[in-house]
Amino acid sequence: MNFGVISIFPQMFSALTNFGVTGRAFQQGLCSVEYFNPRDYSEDVHKSVDDRPYGGGPGMVMMYEPLKGAILAARDMVPGPVVYLSPQGKSLSVERLRDLHQQRNVTFLCGRYEGIDERIVRKHVDEEISIGDYVISGGELAAMVIMDALIRLIPGALGHELSAEEDSFSHGLLDTSHYTRPQTVDGMGVPGILLTGNHQEISRWRQLQSYERTLARRPELLAKYHDNPDSEGN
Ligand SMILES: C[S@@+](CC[C@H](N)C(=O)[O-])C[C@H]1O[C@@H](n2cnc3c(N)ncnc32)[C@H](O)[C@@H]1O
Repeated sequence: MNFGVISIFPQMFSALTNFGVTGRAFQQGLCSVEYFNPRDYSEDVHKSVDDRPYGGGPGMVMMYEPLKGAILAARDMVPGPVVYLSPQGKSLSVERLRDLHQQRNVTFLCGRYEGIDERIVRKHVDEEISIGDYVISGGELAAMVIMDALIRLIPGALGHELSAEEDSFSHGLLDTSHYTRPQTVDGMGVPGILLTGNHQEISRWRQLQSYERTLARRPELLAKYHDNPDSEGN
């Protein structure tokens, strides 16, 4: 996948590009990222990207022109949708992730301050995505959440090909519980079935665990799952 990132803090993305599964995916060339800093498209000497809001009120708003310049440059290099990370957008879902994954190219526009000039959203943004009903200080962390989840969907990005398949939500249920050594810790053992070596029984037990955990923690997911238990993400 090719990512575009529009941000005044591109350095933040080293958390994604330099570590763990996602870092490896970048190193292996399974994905790439181009940065577009709105400051580079600011016309004034101070390279300003924000100004006071019309109508008054606290905080600053990201200005139209620098964002427009960055978006046009991104569209030239990354031929996919421009997604504005916003608490007012549609909530991120596994279905939306799969759609974005199909696109292969996507640019994330990261807001700061009180947000961005609404006219950018109206004219230059293809969609708005929220990572949840709370407000964080900038779109960078939200973009990294989505990029990380997208990278996990790239074939070969995970050490073990099946692990994304078994993740929570991939088949509509939560993941099973996991255990590792030591076999007993603080008086707690490991479910006996996992020590039998009977892979068929273990698989059946894990499926049951997965179902029971979903019932206990996220019962609303089961309604969709029952409609179509074999389809991905339902
Ligand atoms: C402090 S927030 C602005 C929030 C805005 N005043 C509001 O209440 O809708 C600054 C930036 O953080 C990002 N952001 C904040 N919360 C987010 C969320 N839940 N999902 C995605 N992006 C978010 C957006 O890019 C936003 O422009």
